[in-house]
Amino acid sequence: MMNLVSAMETRVSTRTFDGKPLSSEEQAALENLLQDVERAEKPDFLQPVRLTLHTGPGAKMGTFGLITSAAGFLVPAVRNAPFAMESVGYSLELAILGAASLGIGSCWIGGVFSRARANEAARAGKDELVPVIAALGHPASQRSLADRIVTGAAQSRVRKPLSEIFFPIAAQPHGGADAGKEAVSAVQLSAPWDTILEMVRIAPSASNKQPWRIVQVSETPQFVFFMEENYRYNNSLGDVHLQNIDMGIAMCHFDAAAEACGLAGTWQPLAENRGAGSSAEDEKTSTALAFGRSRGWKPIAVWQQKR
Ligand SMILES: Cc1cc2nc3c(=O)[nH]c(=O)nc-3n(C[C@H](O)[C@H](O)[C@H](O)COP(=O)(O)O)c2cc1C
Repeated sequence: MMNLVSAMETRVSTRTFDGKPLSSEEQAALENLLQDVERAEKPDFLQPVRLTLHTGPGAKMGTFGLITSAAGFLVPAVRNAPFAMESVGYSLELAILGAASLGIGSCWIGGVFSRARANEAARAGKDELVPVIAALGHPASQRSLADRIVTGAAQSRVRKPLSEIFFPIAAQPHGGADAGKEAVSAVQLSAPWDTILEMVRIAPSASNKQPWRIVQVSETPQFVFFMEENYRYNNSLGDVHLQNIDMGIAMCHFDAAAEACGLAGTWQPLAENRGAGSSAEDEKTSTALAFGRSRGWKPIAVWQQKR
């Protein structure tokens, strides 16, 4: 994949588009991009995600007043299986960042859209879900009133400070009952980790809730990803869990930034997460897990740098 750091830095949600269709060059570039995203290397416990580009004059998705004059939509379909949501977050964000690199604006839509139309556009099978869609197009020069209200309410661009999402903790060899009470050291990251975590910090999330929490045991090249779940918010849409999608987005940003910095790593699943077995438990991970669990966070996955 291309270097996506500048796309991560500059992307913001676009909710008011100029109404112009995508050019045939843009359509072709997007179709190529979707193929690249489908083929890109991803954490191997994620599910494959089929991405459909839905454009043309009839491309309406029942987004009501929220989205104005989109040129089209990206519609992801995934098998309803463990890590389906993280998978959609990861793949659709890769596509959104690629689109941003092509100068195409977008907005994730997880709340109000026609699920029937989205299923139809993706030709979703019986065992597949279309949990979210993304609107695409060229940003209009002036944003609609609804856009300005939503953007204000969702506090676009406003993000938690690093100290609220990243927790470097001291090693505790025996990972005992006190592990969760380990003092958090001041956030002081050396390059390139500062860039990589900054890219996670600025990632988009549903209602800008930024549920990701990342724990690193004293300078080890291992990062444990947790979700600070808002239970009602994340469990009000049946099989769709927007905050697990956010976790996939965070993993995508971490990987894209690590790749841009020339670092390689592997992911292991941690979730006692909707039927997935957990693995990847060593002493360092146990210390990090105890720390996160004592705060009520849900373990999702751990990234380990390849030696
Ligand atoms: C899973 C997910 C679902 C979202 N659903 C909606 C939505 O239904 N409507 C909307 O206007 N924005 C939606 N957003 C966009 C977020 O509000 C936005 O990403 C966040 O406020 C941060 O702002 P930014 O994207 O401009 O950086 C969603 C984002 C994500 C990641």
